Amino acid sequence: MSEPVVELKGVHSGYNTISVIRGIDLIVNPGEVVALLGANGAGKTTTLRTISGIVPISEGTLTVMGTPILKNRPWLVARRGVSHVPEERGLFFQLTVKENLILGARRGKPDYDRVFHYFPALAKLSNRKAGLLSGGEQQMLATARAAISGSKLIMVDEMSLGLAPIIVERLLPVLKQVAVDTGAGILLVEQHIELALEVADRGYVLSKGVIDRTDTAEALLRDRHLLEQSYLGEIVI
Ligand SMILES: Nc1ncnc2c1ncn2[C@@H]1O[C@H](COP(=O)(O)OP(=O)(O)O)[C@@H](O)[C@H]1O
Ligand SMILES: [Mg+2]
Repeated sequence: MSEPVVELKGVHSGYNTISVIRGIDLIVNPGEVVALLGANGAGKTTTLRTISGIVPISEGTLTVMGTPILKNRPWLVARRGVSHVPEERGLFFQLTVKENLILGARRGKPDYDRVFHYFPALAKLSNRKAGLLSGGEQQMLATARAAISGSKLIMVDEMSLGLAPIIVERLLPVLKQVAVDTGAGILLVEQHIELALEVADRGYVLSKGVIDRTDTAEALLRDRHLLEQSYLGEIVI
C-alpha cells in the first residue's frame, strides 16, 4: 500500500503550557476521506493546526508524505502538499472569486473548468467579491481552492458551520469526489456526525484530546449511542 499522506504517532500538543492533544495516533491514506468527530472543545481544530505546524508538538511524531516534521514548520508542511480550510474559511473578502482562486493555485493558472465542474454555482459568480457571497458559496470557494491546489492532504474544519443541512448535504459529497479524482486524502472535522460519516471511509472520535474510538464509517454510523450523544451536543463514550 502507498504511504499515508499524514501519520501522527503518540502526538501531544497544545498552547503554551496547556496540553490539549494528549497522545493521539491518526492516519490518513491517499484517496481516503477520514472524519474527525467529537464534541465542542474536544481538540479537533487543534489537531488540524498541529498537522499544519501551527501548534507545537511536545511529544510524539508527525509524518507528512513520508517526511518527519521535526519542528514547527508550517511552510514545510504546506510545501509537502497540505491544504487547510479553516473554520473561518480563509478567503480574501475584498477579492473576487477568480482572484481568490488565483491566489490559491500553487503554480500557474487555476483550473477553472475543474472548479466549475465541482461547483457549477460558482461559474456565474466569478467576478463577485468573496465577501458578498452567501455562506454556502463561500464554503464552495474555499473548498474549490483547496481541491485544485494539487494537495495530497486536504483538511476541512467545520465545513457546515453556519450552513443549512441541505447545503452541507450537497457540499460534502464533492469532497469525496475530489478524493476519488485526485487521490488526495481528506481529513474532515464535522459536528454533523451522520452527514460526515455518509461520505467518509473511516472516522476517529476525539474526546478531551484523546482518541476514544476509531472504526469504519459504516460501523460508526450503526452506533446509535454515538449518534444520540452527538445530537445532545456531547460525545461521551
Ligand atoms: N489559542 C488557544 N489558546 C489556548 N487554548 C486554546 C486555544 N484554542 C483552543 N484552545 C483550547 O483547546 C481546547 C480544544 O479546542 P479546539 O481544538 O478548538 O476544539 P474543537 O475544535 O474540538 O471544538 C479547548 O479547551 C480550547 O479552549
Ligand atoms: Mg473547532
